[in-house]
Amino acid sequence: MRVDDVRIVGVVGAGVMGHGIAQVCARRGYEVVLVDVSAEILEKALKLIRSGPFGLDKLVQKGKMSEKEAEEVMSRIKPTTSILDLKEVDFLIEAVPEDASLKKKVFSELDSVCKEETVFASNTSGILISDLASSVKRKDKFIGMHWFNPAPVMRLIEVVRGALTSDETFKLTVELAERLGKTPIEAMDVPGFFTTRFICCWLMEAIRLFEAGVAGIREIDEMCKLAFGFPMGPFELMDLIGLDTMLHIGEYLYAETREERYTPPISLKRLVVSGYLGDRRTKPGSMGGWYDFLKVGGGRRNEG
Ligand SMILES: NC(=O)c1ccc[n+]([C@@H]2O[C@H](COP(=O)([O-])OP(=O)(O)OC[C@H]3O[C@@H](n4cnc5c(N)ncnc54)[C@H](O)[C@@H]3O)[C@@H](O)[C@H]2O)c1
Repeated sequence: MRVDDVRIVGVVGAGVMGHGIAQVCARRGYEVVLVDVSAEILEKALKLIRSGPFGLDKLVQKGKMSEKEAEEVMSRIKPTTSILDLKEVDFLIEAVPEDASLKKKVFSELDSVCKEETVFASNTSGILISDLASSVKRKDKFIGMHWFNPAPVMRLIEVVRGALTSDETFKLTVELAERLGKTPIEAMDVPGFFTTRFICCWLMEAIRLFEAGVAGIREIDEMCKLAFGFPMGPFELMDLIGLDTMLHIGEYLYAETREERYTPPISLKRLVVSGYLGDRRTKPGSMGGWYDFLKVGGGRRNEG
């Protein structure tokens, strides 16, 4: 398949990443079939696409898009709870939670639903692409397409070839990423690729310094913004990513590499098991993030 043949994009998982990916694809003129497990989640995803913090209404308010264009973008997105609606998609992007066995199960079901030519891309943050590809027959048409959060804003797409990904699939993915207004950069198929290894060390280190009492959460965020010009601090970034996702990533990277620097510190685990999964605006059912946990005294002992 060539990039000109791609008309319909399937997005599986309409959470933090999936809704943003669907928004970008629809904005660039693609028909999008957006799948999740419940109508309620899909409704929330559509609301975020329309009026969320990075949604279309913001573009309309800034005069970058007309109301009519926003409506056209929305009309290109078909929400559904049935994977059978993915039969005709040309390019499929999977964005279900960061759990290798769940992703493999989803891919193996999709393998028998989607047409033979459909390319399968995983938005995994760092699970080996060659491993995920083992769940499908179309191993040559399987690739890593790692987007960043918030998807409508961040410009990089990390492209990762599995051991059996064909040159044709790689070229198609790179060209599609460019058509979606992103900059694709290739990284090697190792756990965490480049970006997740790098960011995971940095974020886990911020938690460790907080736990050691070197500085508080608010202070660490402020220092990073004021000293290094980061647009947001490490704790704000973790809230945006999702704390459960961060925990999964750290556990996976440690299990695969046995390198201590990836180990999730205990306070991250305490938040997740207490229902604090990150930003309530984008993370349904979350009790909030690091700052909300502080308000109820969650970080008391660490703050000294
Ligand atoms: N959150 C981030 O900042 C970020 C950034 C880059 C990549 N990623 C990766 O993107 C993927 C998704 O992460 P997320 O943060 O969007 O997670 P999320 O938990 O916000 O969303 C996942 C969605 O998948 C849905 N889902 C679960 N099982 C499903 C199934 N069988 N079929 C269809 N939908 C199903 C869930 O209901 C949920 O809505 C993960 O692999 C994550 O590592 C996340």
